[in-house]
Amino acid sequence: MSLANIKTLLKDAQDKNYAVGSFSVANMEMVLGVIKAAEETKSPIILQIAEVRLNHSPLAVIGPLMVAAAKNAKVPVAVHLDHGTTLECIRQALDLGFTSVMFDGSHLPLDENISMTQKVVAMAKPYGAAVEAEIGCVGGSEDGSVDIAMRCTSPQQAEKFFSETKVDALAIAIGNAHGFYKEAPCLRFDILQKVKETVSVPLVLHGGTGISEEDFIRCHQNGIKKINIATATFASVENQVRKAYNENEIGGYYDLHQAEIKGAYENAKKHMEIFYSVGKAE
Ligand code: 13P
Repeated sequence: MSLANIKTLLKDAQDKNYAVGSFSVANMEMVLGVIKAAEETKSPIILQIAEVRLNHSPLAVIGPLMVAAAKNAKVPVAVHLDHGTTLECIRQALDLGFTSVMFDGSHLPLDENISMTQKVVAMAKPYGAAVEAEIGCVGGSEDGSVDIAMRCTSPQQAEKFFSETKVDALAIAIGNAHGFYKEAPCLRFDILQKVKETVSVPLVLHGGTGISEEDFIRCHQNGIKKINIATATFASVENQVRKAYNENEIGGYYDLHQAEIKGAYENAKKHMEIFYSVGKAE
């Protein structure tokens, strides 16, 4: 039984100076692939799904699957709702046993973002669940449906936000964006440094797909303790399936199932190594 809470995972990541990979999943094969990589590398991990993806993978179906997979894992696995935008969905995730939820009010005026986040923190408390929020605006959008303009986090706003909400993890915008980058991202490490000096909360980097190994390491050595990966997982699964078809390895449905697991596994394992989370679940 290894269902974990991000509060414990991110505290350990702060103490031992690494980052926990937070991997978006859409089906059972991705869940199995990511957990296989975590068990093999002895990495603590977070399984997540964003509210916008629930039209493909209904929360009432995939939620219990994620929680059951976490409970059966040999390493600590937290189960997280990514980019929650409605209180109904956040409540449903908490009822299903998710150990953390994100409220994304980054598009709201600061005061509204604060007051909505306070409501979510109060809602999560009786469940013992943790809360992540976002300040500044990560570019793009989780499912690519809207191209949200990137707005870097103001360290002063981050300080006010944290002191009034006391969230457990804070997503910041430092030039990162969801989806494939149109050009190589140029992360604002000066902003990361200032936010880290201003607030003591573990910081979260969204838009992990396409960030270089060097930048990932610089991020997790400077306060980023949770790194979100979505597009890279979906692409790795798709590419693995295509390769298996091209190489005539798919003779039936269960070969396809194995190819999907392999795609998710390889991508997750690569990131766990870069995040220095390998061996931290021992
Ligand atoms: P990518 O799709 O760029 O990996 O971003 C993932 C993410 O931040 C999910 O919230």
